[in-house]
Amino acid sequence: MTSKDKMKEYMVTLSLDETPTSWYNIQADLPEPAPPPLDPTTLKPISPALLERIFAKELIGQEVSTERYIKIPDEVFDAYLRLPRPTPLYRAKRLEKYLKTSAQIYFKCENFSPTGSHKPNTAIAQAYYNKKQGTNRLVTETGAGQWGTALALASIIFGLKCRIYMVRASYQQKPGRKIISQVYGAEMFQSPSDQTSFGRKLLKENPNHPGTLGIAISEAIEDTLAHDDTRYSLGSVLNHVLMHQTIVGLEAKKQFELVDTYPDLVCGCIGGGSNYAGFGFPFMMDKLKGKTDTEFVACESKAVPHTTRGVYTYDYGDTGEMTPLLKMLTIGHGYACPPIHAGGLRYHGMAPLISYLIYKGYMRSVAYSQTEVFEAAKILAQTEGLIIAPETAHSLKYVLDEALKCKKTGEKKVIAMNYSGHGLLDLTAYEQFLAGKLADYEPEKIDIPVFSH
Ligand SMILES: Cc1ncc(COP(=O)(O)O)c(C=O)c1O
Repeated sequence: MTSKDKMKEYMVTLSLDETPTSWYNIQADLPEPAPPPLDPTTLKPISPALLERIFAKELIGQEVSTERYIKIPDEVFDAYLRLPRPTPLYRAKRLEKYLKTSAQIYFKCENFSPTGSHKPNTAIAQAYYNKKQGTNRLVTETGAGQWGTALALASIIFGLKCRIYMVRASYQQKPGRKIISQVYGAEMFQSPSDQTSFGRKLLKENPNHPGTLGIAISEAIEDTLAHDDTRYSLGSVLNHVLMHQTIVGLEAKKQFELVDTYPDLVCGCIGGGSNYAGFGFPFMMDKLKGKTDTEFVACESKAVPHTTRGVYTYDYGDTGEMTPLLKMLTIGHGYACPPIHAGGLRYHGMAPLISYLIYKGYMRSVAYSQTEVFEAAKILAQTEGLIIAPETAHSLKYVLDEALKCKKTGEKKVIAMNYSGHGLLDLTAYEQFLAGKLADYEPEKIDIPVFSH
């Protein structure tokens, strides 16, 4: 067996020389510019200057850039290497064997970062640009805590203070990532909190309010606006966040090249859209240029069906209506996300760039309920020994279904999935699943706000 064949069979790695040194900006290759964010008071495109009070200036530049490749600053590249990056591309041979499928299943392993997911790829970049412009303190929100831990980590790398508003239900039920962030030195508050007027208003109405990601975002923005030395940091949705994640797909593309393979199917889960975009956009570039007919499929929760049942319209990014309006697939910023275990998928909207690609038919999405997703996760654990994050398990379910279809047809599909995180801090969810106690949720009716524009 040649070493190339051996790599194909197990795991593909990259040397330092082969590691990508730029991010890919899909805005350079869209057939038309994606609709811009609007100022809710004027319904006109928001001026970048207005955003400077919230985000670091270089990030706003990246948000609207149409340059195809943006160089990764040396300090960020160095921090990536220590995560460590590049991450392996793993062939799930034992899973293939168990399924008796003719398909090949590859995972891009983002579960190896110190906090267990892909989120540090953008946290490090955002902390770097903020430090560079003199920001002293970063504020953010987090759902189940993956993003919060990543920003807390990035803040210690670049010597910034960090405050995190964590959705109250997760803060209480899943303290693991709260504790990790605190060990990193971040200040943690459960949201709604008594730290902001929006939080106090909600607590007055309901002292046990469970919180949502949309509420925590409103609190983080209010806090940012109240402190001059502070900027806000977002873990998904926005163009620059998605772009920082493309290091994942750029590495994967090189890894597939090394084994003379190209995926027939690119899949991943979608919360706000960053891990999917990061993995998928470098391949989508080829589709936009008409060079491949690879299928792109994003997987979400039936409890938060933002792309499968949402409407493509302008909506707020938060519950308190403080953000600009984003054109996206949305189930409405007031949607009360049910308490599924995949906390990272509990967001009402989808990244404008992914929404655009779904709306235009370049990719599609599917939705699953959590019990079937945990069934898939159990199969993975009992074949590959991997305990997958509940979020990531949504795309695993799709991978399993596709691989079983290939078993019937004999098709040798190459299936590539972004393994966005491990589930070692989600064991209470696994415990409930094993005890048969998981509930499935699916909204009967969804009220979606419509803005005239
Ligand atoms: C492991 C993991 N995967 C996926 C997601 C979904 O977020 P996004 O769509 O931004 O990648 C999250 C969010 O926290 C996550 O923790």
